[in-house]
Amino acid sequence: MSFFSALFYDKVMKYTEEACLIEWRRTLLENVDGNVLEIGAGTGASLGLYPKKASLALYLAEPDQHMRMQLEQKLHSQSNIKATVLSCSTEHIESDDDFFDYVFVSLVCCSVKDVDASLQEIKRVLKPTGRFIFLEHVAAEPGSSCYHWQQRLNFMWRHVADNCHLNRTTEQSIIDAGFVIEDIQYEKMRKMIAVVQPTIRGIARIAP
Ligand SMILES: C[S@@+](CC[C@H](N)C(=O)[O-])C[C@H]1O[C@@H](n2cnc3c(N)ncnc32)[C@H](O)[C@@H]1O
Repeated sequence: MSFFSALFYDKVMKYTEEACLIEWRRTLLENVDGNVLEIGAGTGASLGLYPKKASLALYLAEPDQHMRMQLEQKLHSQSNIKATVLSCSTEHIESDDDFFDYVFVSLVCCSVKDVDASLQEIKRVLKPTGRFIFLEHVAAEPGSSCYHWQQRLNFMWRHVADNCHLNRTTEQSIIDAGFVIEDIQYEKMRKMIAVVQPTIRGIARIAP
């Protein structure tokens, strides 16, 4: 991301955050505890939504230097939130195996270079009893007009939106990676252009 994209990211997302994302993030994160990794943490949109528990150790990974700078500034200004900031990507997570109780991604799987490698890494760093929490925008229902436009616009969108894909089938990727989805909700992201509206959010565990 460019310096300016990172600088204005929160302003661009403000209305969508207020319309739905804050509420979705809060609900998804309300029970997290132990070692928690948010990967692709961006500017820290979820920062204030983690439970305030002494037993929660928060790790925030963000590979993009400009987004990470915004994240670190937000952390400084919210001195009640303690977190360890990492610069690794989903494809190469700086962690021992079986370390995290929870891994959280939001609006990240659309942009990673390699979805399958990312999900394998998330599996590697999760404890066998851990949970993977996701909130992602995804491909619309095949045959719908939204799906048609996602296919048509994807190439251009990827180039203007930092490798963000409009048409990823992330739910299937999560299952193919060896997770069992325990809970999933499908909802349109409000105050967002139509091709980015379809979302999934939920919780998965590693298949036995
Ligand atoms: C659309 S932003 C979302 C930021 C934040 N998660 C949120 O919900 O506001 C996508 C983020 O994913 C990050 N990202 C892209 N590729 C990544 C990768 N391979 N590993 C980790 N993060 C990645 C970007 O740097 C960016 O911060």
